[in-house]
Amino acid sequence: MKNKVIVLHRTPVGALSDGDLALKVRDVGELLPGFIRVAVEYISVEPAMRGWVTNRTDYMPRLAPGDTLHAFGIGVVIQSEHAGFTVGQKVIGNLGAQEIADINPEMTELRTALPEPVPSSIQLGMAGITGLTAFFGMTKIARPSVGETFVVSAAAGAVGSVAGQLARLAGCKVIGIAGSDAKSLWLTRELGFDAVINRHSENVKARLDELCPEGIDIYFDNVGGDILDTCLSRLRKGARVVLCGGIATYNATEKPAGPANYFALVHRSALMQGFIVLDYLDEFEPAIEWIMTQYNAGLLINREEMFTGVESLPNALNALFDGSNTGKVLVKT
Ligand SMILES: NC(=O)c1ccc[n+]([C@@H]2O[C@H](COP(=O)([O-])OP(=O)(O)OC[C@H]3O[C@@H](n4cnc5c(N)ncnc54)[C@H](OP(=O)(O)O)[C@@H]3O)[C@@H](O)[C@H]2O)c1
Repeated sequence: MKNKVIVLHRTPVGALSDGDLALKVRDVGELLPGFIRVAVEYISVEPAMRGWVTNRTDYMPRLAPGDTLHAFGIGVVIQSEHAGFTVGQKVIGNLGAQEIADINPEMTELRTALPEPVPSSIQLGMAGITGLTAFFGMTKIARPSVGETFVVSAAAGAVGSVAGQLARLAGCKVIGIAGSDAKSLWLTRELGFDAVINRHSENVKARLDELCPEGIDIYFDNVGGDILDTCLSRLRKGARVVLCGGIATYNATEKPAGPANYFALVHRSALMQGFIVLDYLDEFEPAIEWIMTQYNAGLLINREEMFTGVESLPNALNALFDGSNTGKVLVKT
């Protein structure tokens, strides 16, 4: 049996370029005692992968050239040398960017997937890492109330589109910032956003002033950089700023400047807090149940952008950085 694997070939500098990641075809050997063998079905494509390849994060194991790229995935156990797992069981975890994953469940956090008819792909998106990121950012930090003004960046992306829908369900006025008119239309017409600012063709500052005349109660930040700074200067008293991600800075070759307007947090008695979704592993189960209940009731809309084949992963990852994706980017192996 052969396994297609995406490995780190050389540490990227700036934006990911051809040859930073490489496709390898490797023989699948004997399964080691205590391990399980998983046929990966879907791979979750995350902006954070850019940080994982330069070991910029401390919540994932370090990577050296030749190592398999970390990737959350869902797959089926096809062989088991571990008493806790049986063939046919579906699992979710860091299975790596590959078709066949040999995993030691004592070393890798694995969750059992929801049974049929819940589709596998949604368990990496809306009812997986993505939806959970939005859910915990909203429930633990944003804590929205009816009538509050909510702003989210990368609004048509995987996390942003769920966060905006959760804010709408909580009764907020929901303003998105996104990168195209097509995304704006999807967010306003289908997801119920009140308005969307096109960050390329509109003046974000002027539009925020128009759309949020009394300021911003909650800013859910997926991008960092100038947009974070702009939102900080428009906070209302008691505002909450959710630091979820900072994709605008992930390719930076020098340390990005800090937000110049941070002192608004003092003047507005505001809270700015970061988080990693894995902080809430113990609370995943009830959160997924809640999300699926809303989804099944038609109150949340899921959108996926599917790439095919492990070899498509570098292109899939680039889509997040050039903004060509709408919704959750996945690779079907
Ligand atoms: N804290 C956590 O545990 C956690 C977990 C998962 C994800 N995240 C973070 O959440 C954020 C969103 O992740 P995702 O998976 O949902 O990705 P995504 O939003 O689906 O895709 C990224 C989007 O970012 C926007 N973007 C790209 N480059 C940008 C730039 N230079 N300036 C402004 N916007 C830019 C693009 O949208 P537009 O062109 O439409 O603006 C792009 O579609 C990322 O920062 C990610 O690292 C955090």
